[in-house]
Amino acid sequence: MSLPNGQGTHKSESVEELKLAAVTELDSADSSERLESWRVDFLGRKGRLTALLRGLGSLDIGERKVIGAGANRLRDELESLYEDRVNQSKSSQVSVGSIDITLPGRKPTLGGLHPSTQMIREITQAFNEMGFQTVEGPEVELEKYNFDMLNIPADHPARDQWDTIWVDSDTHNDVLLRTHTSPMQARVMEQGDPPIRVIVPGKCYRYESTDATHEWHFNQVEGLAVDEGITFADLKGTLYEFARRIFGSTRKVRFRCDFFPFVEPGVDMSIEWNGDWIEILGAGMVHPKVLEYAGYDSAKYTGFAFGMGPERISMLRNEITDIRHFFSNDLRFLTQF
Ligand code: PHE
Repeated sequence: MSLPNGQGTHKSESVEELKLAAVTELDSADSSERLESWRVDFLGRKGRLTALLRGLGSLDIGERKVIGAGANRLRDELESLYEDRVNQSKSSQVSVGSIDITLPGRKPTLGGLHPSTQMIREITQAFNEMGFQTVEGPEVELEKYNFDMLNIPADHPARDQWDTIWVDSDTHNDVLLRTHTSPMQARVMEQGDPPIRVIVPGKCYRYESTDATHEWHFNQVEGLAVDEGITFADLKGTLYEFARRIFGSTRKVRFRCDFFPFVEPGVDMSIEWNGDWIEILGAGMVHPKVLEYAGYDSAKYTGFAFGMGPERISMLRNEITDIRHFFSNDLRFLTQF
């Protein structure tokens, strides 16, 4: 590129000199710091090109025109050379030193399954392998399924056992957060015919003040088997096998009589723990009335049902002392699993 220096004046040589200096220095600017100081030095508000343009004012009009045009063209040229150089250094940043490729990489943080989910999966898998199919049901439930069809009529004292959270609604007064997963017994029987073998994990809710062993919401895993000729021995055999898989084959298991309106007879099952008996589930033979409410012939079919709390079981296995840890979203707790 040629610059107008036909006048042979000192000023027009200065444009040439400036160009030479600028191009040479830009060529050797090999870091982003040096590129920046080049920009300030030549194109900055107090830079050499600005100084040259300012100096034009003292020239006569003819000189000012010629040299001014040359200086402006030089500015355009330097600006575009500068941009090219910046882009070039961006695409090869490694060589300009802003990234140290010898540093070890940063490990991405990986998520994991919640300890409740892990326990639920382990429990359901144990039953899946014994022929039970996993199904899930609504957490917002009708009174009919949560109570009535489970042989817990309105005003029956057994309802007091379940501290219940009712749902406010303009159109319904029979909607609640389910207090257990047992309503799925009624729903599953209503929808299909025996043989039935289902395992139902899910959340439950109770109007409850919390402490180390009580939460107002928690998970349950419900089980139901209905067929011709199912006996209490089937119930015991299935739950023994479950306990063996979760707690090991040397663990002792105890059944005691218990009352639940939807089973007869009803039991609770405890396992031995540090010389003590710890209750882990309720169970029993499905009450004939519950079979009949679902439309089954109770003379032909029998069945057993059980319900357990996976958080309780996880607490035993992992020596967790407070059930509230499960729902506190504290990573110091959660990342231990
Ligand atoms: N639903 C009962 C509870 O929440 C547990 C249970 C389930 C008992 C099935 C017997 C049979 O306490």
